[in-house]
Amino acid sequence: MIFACDEHGAIGKDGDLPWRQSTDLKHFKRTTMQRPIVMGRKTWDSLGGALPQRRNIVMSRTVLEAEVEQMNVDEVLALAESEDVFIIGGGEIYTLFMEHAKEIRRTIVHTAVEGADTFAPTLDGEGFYLIGERRVEAGPKDEHDMTFQHWIR
Ligand SMILES: NC(=O)c1ccc[n+]([C@@H]2O[C@H](COP(=O)([O-])OP(=O)(O)OC[C@H]3O[C@@H](n4cnc5c(N)ncnc54)[C@H](OP(=O)(O)O)[C@@H]3O)[C@@H](O)[C@H]2O)c1
Repeated sequence: MIFACDEHGAIGKDGDLPWRQSTDLKHFKRTTMQRPIVMGRKTWDSLGGALPQRRNIVMSRTVLEAEVEQMNVDEVLALAESEDVFIIGGGEIYTLFMEHAKEIRRTIVHTAVEGADTFAPTLDGEGFYLIGERRVEAGPKDEHDMTFQHWIR
């Protein structure tokens, strides 16, 4: 699972990311490159197209018009038996797969978003422990400082 959240767990607002964090997008790209990525239909809509060089898989309760691979929960879990699958959001899909996640790449964006409407699930009591953490100052194309964390269980 990979996500970026503010200091209170917010990940989205009005169907989009609530910040511009170029350094985090690069981290996301590096981490997920060449891997299958699984997302909810709303996150898919927010992207405006498939992310390149990754197998894009979208979850919806209806058949989508877009030419993109669709899977249900059981199909995603079956794929994860043989490949490292990245769950890339949003809030509904993180919650759906929380119990199955083995690793979490969490970026804390050092801000408090006002009016956020989507949140990541909390890791408290889920049996994860932190194996790596690195704080990075905002670069010229970032709005905030951020901390990259790596959790496993
Ligand atoms: N900060 C981050 O790291 C990050 C990452 C990703 C997204 N986001 C943000 O998160 C927000 C979107 O998150 P969200 O929670 O509103 O939506 P979402 O999780 O992206 O998508 C929800 C949709 O997934 C489908 N779905 C949910 N459960 C399902 C199931 N059991 N089986 C099949 N399909 C299922 C449904 O699609 P249908 O309605 O089509 O049936 C549902 O409406 C946006 O603001 C986005 O920018 C942030």
